[in-house]
Amino acid sequence: MAKQINPWSNTTKIDIDRLISDFGIEPFSSIKEKIADQPIFTRRTIVAGHRDYDVVADAITQKKPFHVLTGFMPSGHPHFGHLMVMKEVVWHIQQGGNGFISMADCEAHAVRGLSWGVCDRYAREYMECLYALGFSGEIYSQRRNNVLKDLAFEAATKINLSELSAIYGFGPETELAHAISVSMQVADILYPQLVSGIAPTVVPVGIDQDPHIRLTRDVTNSFRMFLVDERETHISIRVKNAPTGALDAVAKRFGGSEKHQMHLDLPAGYTLAETDTIVREVEREFGGFGFLLPSATYHSFLLGLRGGKMSSSVSDSLIWFDDPEMDVKKKIMGSLTGGRQTLEEQKKLGGEPEKCSIYQLNRFHMQDDDAELAEMCRACREGDLMCGTCKKRTFELVWTFLQEFKEKRDEVVHMVKW
Ligand code: TRP
Repeated sequence: MAKQINPWSNTTKIDIDRLISDFGIEPFSSIKEKIADQPIFTRRTIVAGHRDYDVVADAITQKKPFHVLTGFMPSGHPHFGHLMVMKEVVWHIQQGGNGFISMADCEAHAVRGLSWGVCDRYAREYMECLYALGFSGEIYSQRRNNVLKDLAFEAATKINLSELSAIYGFGPETELAHAISVSMQVADILYPQLVSGIAPTVVPVGIDQDPHIRLTRDVTNSFRMFLVDERETHISIRVKNAPTGALDAVAKRFGGSEKHQMHLDLPAGYTLAETDTIVREVEREFGGFGFLLPSATYHSFLLGLRGGKMSSSVSDSLIWFDDPEMDVKKKIMGSLTGGRQTLEEQKKLGGEPEKCSIYQLNRFHMQDDDAELAEMCRACREGDLMCGTCKKRTFELVWTFLQEFKEKRDEVVHMVKW
């Protein structure tokens, strides 16, 4: 069986290095420098990988339009594990992006079996969190968005069952609704370009969502009528799936081109990017979509407080945004750290912050100041900072954050129209 990542499993341990070597994800470090004012998640390599982020970085720098979209399955209360993606979306909006959020109620209904009413209740909580963090833009429910559903149907004309089985391991027992929710996610990712103009789109996700990104990029290519190729001496435009007349229309846009039965050779002087833009324009004139390939960023996961991945099925492994003070305290004080067996050993050997859920919580969310984080890391490693003290401090930070976050949520609750 092909190597697979199952986005719906809680147990898969995903190794970003493996994804980079097996699936063509690029390490984020290679394009970091393109971002002038680095946010925490790129500075600290929390966002570890990307696909085609260059075009998004360029749009940010050149102040050109771009979109940012992600989705949440409203199948439970939002928690700390969702915070990174939310912050990534908001940061991109602050950089000039048009913001979109899909509330994946169809996916939650199909995959987790939740009723629509329950999905709506959870969705409202996610929306509150997003607005409290500064989100602006469109938030929609999959099941209520008819434009999206039409696009999902269109996307489904480009997806076959053997692809679904190769990518997700779907088999004869897989429910049709599960497969449909996959084509809805493909539609989610392309939706901003349909309703808000052709432009680069970044999809910030956890690395477990890469199969959806790959499938969407395949579908985007399948939607194309022409293949624009750079040859050694010139650019060639070949018909892939174009209606009659479309190749003539393309030829008209490129003076001096040589038209053959199924392709066009351009004279020297055109760049690949400008040619592709013009060809996609013609595709739209002939009823195509002309979508650009979507880009993605992949963040690594916050360590669960009990070790392993944060998972909503292990309630002590994570902090919910509406956890009461005592629960937060209990979870943090009882968490698995990178500390040693005894105080003695800890003083001698020092702790191991890279393995520590509490250190990672600080690195991801609780400590914005790089110098202070570095000091925390040093003090832990050198045996100056003991786990008890560190946990107490972290608890204070988390509890303050949660109280402020609650206040902000209360202030924006009127924005949630659902
Ligand atoms: N499948 C995602 C999850 O399990 C949610 C989702 C739905 C999504 N549509 C999306 C994520 C579009 C990114 C882009 O959480």
